[in-house]
Amino acid sequence: MKSIEFQIRKIEESDLTSLLRIKNEASVHMDRFKQQAAGRAVYIGAFIKDSAIGYVLLSLDNKEDVTPYTNGSRCADMIDLLIMEPYRDRGIGSELILACEEACRQKKIFYLGLDVNPADNPRAKLLYERLGYRAVGKLHLDGVYEYTDEAGEPRTYEDWCVDMIKAV
Ligand SMILES: CC(C)(COP(=O)(O)OP(=O)(O)OC[C@H]1O[C@@H](n2cnc3c(N)ncnc32)[C@H](O)[C@@H]1OP(=O)(O)O)[C@@H](O)C(=O)NCCC(=O)NCCS
Repeated sequence: MKSIEFQIRKIEESDLTSLLRIKNEASVHMDRFKQQAAGRAVYIGAFIKDSAIGYVLLSLDNKEDVTPYTNGSRCADMIDLLIMEPYRDRGIGSELILACEEACRQKKIFYLGLDVNPADNPRAKLLYERLGYRAVGKLHLDGVYEYTDEAGEPRTYEDWCVDMIKAV
């Protein structure tokens, strides 16, 4: 795969237009900017020439469900890691994860975690394992989403996830 030049940096409100090309939900991004302004999160993006091609929200709030596995240490949480399809498999997702780990170390937070659906996203789980994350605890229902299937029928998707953590 041809390598590509990209930059990893904190996302600012002025990036909203390009973020909407990845996820067209302004309220989601605005809520993340609010968390960032309050010091509760860092919104980190991958960019090509100032156009966002991926992002992850690093929540600095303690990921409480993993407390039994961190000796009580605070654990930050990576939420909604996403790389636009044409830019996948080039190491950009991994770089975003490494940037989150570095941000944690700078903030003296020594654990980082995430939720992954191992049944529907085994490839992502393998990627996290390769980067040193280990699954802890039990499968839990992370969210229930309504959607319309290809035949136009309303459906419900249950997102059964496992927590993964790493000492960073
Ligand atoms: C999961 C996701 C974020 C990974 O992002 P990515 O940029 O493709 O990740 P990476 O490129 O770092 O690593 C993924 C693959 O690329 C390979 N890779 C890593 N560095 C590479 C490089 N420099 N050049 C080419 N390939 C590379 C990895 O070996 C891995 O391969 P494999 O999974 O086929 O074994 C992306 O696939 C995505 O957005 N998926 C949809 C949303 C999603 O599932 N999010 C996770 C929710 S838990």
